[in-house]
Amino acid sequence: MQLNQYYTSKIYSDALVKNLTIASPQTALDLGFGAGELLCAAKRRWDNLSLIGIDIDRKNILYAESNKLIKALELSGFDPSLPNIINDSFGEIDLLISNPPYFLCDLDSNNKKILQAIGLLDCISKNLKKVPAELIFLAQNLRLLTKTGEIGIIVPAGLVSGQKWLPVRQFLFEKYNITNIIQLPESSFKKTDAQTFIITLKNKTKSCKSIPLSYIDRDDAIDVDISNAIVRSDYRFYKEINSLEYTDKISSEDFEMYRGNKSHNELVKIGNTHIHTTDMPHQPTLLDIGTTPVDNVKNAKSNDILIARVGRRCLGRTLFIHSGSIPISDCIIGITPKNKIVGDKIWKKLSSVQCKKYLTNAALGVGAKYITYKTIKDYLTNEYAITK
Ligand SMILES: C[S@@+](CC[C@H](N)C(=O)[O-])C[C@H]1O[C@@H](n2cnc3c(N)ncnc32)[C@H](O)[C@@H]1O
Repeated sequence: MQLNQYYTSKIYSDALVKNLTIASPQTALDLGFGAGELLCAAKRRWDNLSLIGIDIDRKNILYAESNKLIKALELSGFDPSLPNIINDSFGEIDLLISNPPYFLCDLDSNNKKILQAIGLLDCISKNLKKVPAELIFLAQNLRLLTKTGEIGIIVPAGLVSGQKWLPVRQFLFEKYNITNIIQLPESSFKKTDAQTFIITLKNKTKSCKSIPLSYIDRDDAIDVDISNAIVRSDYRFYKEINSLEYTDKISSEDFEMYRGNKSHNELVKIGNTHIHTTDMPHQPTLLDIGTTPVDNVKNAKSNDILIARVGRRCLGRTLFIHSGSIPISDCIIGITPKNKIVGDKIWKKLSSVQCKKYLTNAALGVGAKYITYKTIKDYLTNEYAITK
């Protein structure tokens, strides 16, 4: 069983609690409460608060019982009857705080029931066999949310900006009042560099048109239209595109994009010299290669521009194939310009310091970051799906 015991430190627990908008909750519950730091942070803000912790790890229950601050129950977050058990034992809960375990779990009948109960099952592709555990925990919290209560939950980047979970965001943002989405540094949790966000939300009492996106401990929140936030709701992306200096606009008809069709390992096995992310130079570089195209693999050819699409260190590195032809791995995106003039313009844009910074902030992913065709196309055409 995966427990994912990445506990929230005091500063991030306090940050979550500070950003809750509820005035004076009576009872706080943490589903997967761990060492209880989130609950303790809530107690620091509201002295009279009763604390309830649910966890599957008996060690955490015993520890809480010995401290007598938290009423602890040993239960699984994946039990469809959990909200009833909690309500029967403690009545209604007005504050739900959580940093759930992050891993992929089976979309079995129990998890389907949980998602169905809150209306989230319809937001998920029918072919999915696995779903993020954090989505199940979020659904359980939503099932417990009262009319006047509030949820504060820490989730990984996938739910906030991943393409796959866009229908989930649409559901949440249209049905609930999202009071904050706060980006946290990648270094927030020990032994992981997961990109995470605090989301605070309530039941809707009036219609809202935008969502405040912010970065922890900064007071320059950006209000983003719900329609844009549904596409992605990561603060750093919006901050970046709002600060971009507009350079030459390139028409999307003036270039084509492609990706390698074999992995690095497959190309190594075939025995061909090829370009993989680890071969991409630190600085934008022009390359002359004396080689000719290889059959059955995707080759970059002269005048193409290559860009590394994955890898924390390599992502966004660029290479201009000045002459020759060479296979590329599937971790590289190639761009073929319509002609030399367009090629020079594209190279100027993609080899700029501004582009590197844009790609860093626009990259998607929780741990391993990646960029898509769209990330690059939007930059080249100056046409972000998101309005400025
Ligand atoms: C990422 S930790 C967070 C702990 C705590 N909420 C915090 O913020 O420090 C996830 C917690 O969920 C608990 N957990 C994992 N799987 C669970 C399950 N199926 N049901 C209940 N709790 C679970 C783990 O034992 C762990 O305490």
